[in-house]
Amino acid sequence: MPLFDVYPLYDVTPVSGKDVKVYDDKGTEYLDLYGGHAVISIGHAHPNYVEAITNQVNSLGFYSNAVQNPLQKELASKLEALSECKDYELFLCNSGAEANENALKLASFKTGKKRVVAFENGFHGRTSAAVAATDNKNIIAPINAQQAVTILPLNDVEAVKQELEKGDVCAVIVEFIQGVGGLDQGTTAFFEDIDALCKANNTMLIADEIQCGYGRSGKFFAFQYYNVTPDIISMAKGMGNGFPIGGILIHPDIEAKYGMLGTTFGGNHLACAAGLAVLNTIEEERLIENTNDLSMYFVEKAKTIPQIKNIKGKGLMIGLEFDFEVGDLRKKLIYDNHIFTGGASNKKLLRILPPLTIKKEHVDQFFKALTKVLEDIETPVVD
Ligand SMILES: Cc1ncc(COP(=O)(O)O)c(C=O)c1O
Repeated sequence: MPLFDVYPLYDVTPVSGKDVKVYDDKGTEYLDLYGGHAVISIGHAHPNYVEAITNQVNSLGFYSNAVQNPLQKELASKLEALSECKDYELFLCNSGAEANENALKLASFKTGKKRVVAFENGFHGRTSAAVAATDNKNIIAPINAQQAVTILPLNDVEAVKQELEKGDVCAVIVEFIQGVGGLDQGTTAFFEDIDALCKANNTMLIADEIQCGYGRSGKFFAFQYYNVTPDIISMAKGMGNGFPIGGILIHPDIEAKYGMLGTTFGGNHLACAAGLAVLNTIEEERLIENTNDLSMYFVEKAKTIPQIKNIKGKGLMIGLEFDFEVGDLRKKLIYDNHIFTGGASNKKLLRILPPLTIKKEHVDQFFKALTKVLEDIETPVVD
């Protein structure tokens, strides 16, 4: 049976990984500056992670949400301690899109309203309301288009004010650092103003931290660079280091009712074991500190490359913008230099999303290869 052909694939077959390296079926070593799309937070096959999942599956891999699961409570208290998001409540699910679906649904339950405000170039997932709030017409099917969503330009406070004052907006959903769109960020004034506007208009502010959360930005959550209090925070990607897990943090102003949200697999024992191993490792290995140190080192090196016209993002969520499309550059990095990097809908942007365990020697390896590739493709340097 053929696979439903929806992914354009690189011709590489990774079969194993260790920390920031992956190995293909021919034994070739690759440097992973993509982290399987910002998913690998504590490094491939981290011993804590392997041990936690192995022990858990040997005792109990799964039981439903109809019984007590102390691992969920343990995960919630560790997450509260590390994120410093005091008083929020945790609901666990399985992916980023599902986290945003639940976030939007809760916002609608809480406010009794149904229109969503989202932003240009934003990405929130591929399902129902999450895809409708995503600024990409190509992935919105007619069945999704029935959702009431208004997409506004980032940084246009006045436009947000006008929409919220109409009184029918249940949620404003925003990435504090855009991922798929290409690492654009709103201004401090914009974020703080939309937070205030949400509070004034009975609208829930949803921080989509699916890509920029879990330490990747250099703080536990990217919204923590600003003086804002989201009503709901959605998480996935780095949360499980590859094990499918997602979740939302919910402000206590939103009251839980039995049956309001639910899922078969969400918060299962194995997912919690993976999630706990991630949090324990972030803490033990001081990975947020490493993210900040290595980010600084990376950016300093990037500033010395004249072909890089703009450096975007925060922490280990870095965009290098060139004045040409980077498709060929990425191919040369992967096939000739064995380095994985990411792209974005901004075709001139190279996205760097390594495991948070990366070291200076890996950054050096990347810049050595990048310099060589840039010489090879003889890009004219435009001043
Ligand atoms: C910011 C953001 N939100 C939501 C999603 C959707 O997550 P998932 O692919 O796990 O459904 C993504 C995935 O790239 C994302 O980057």
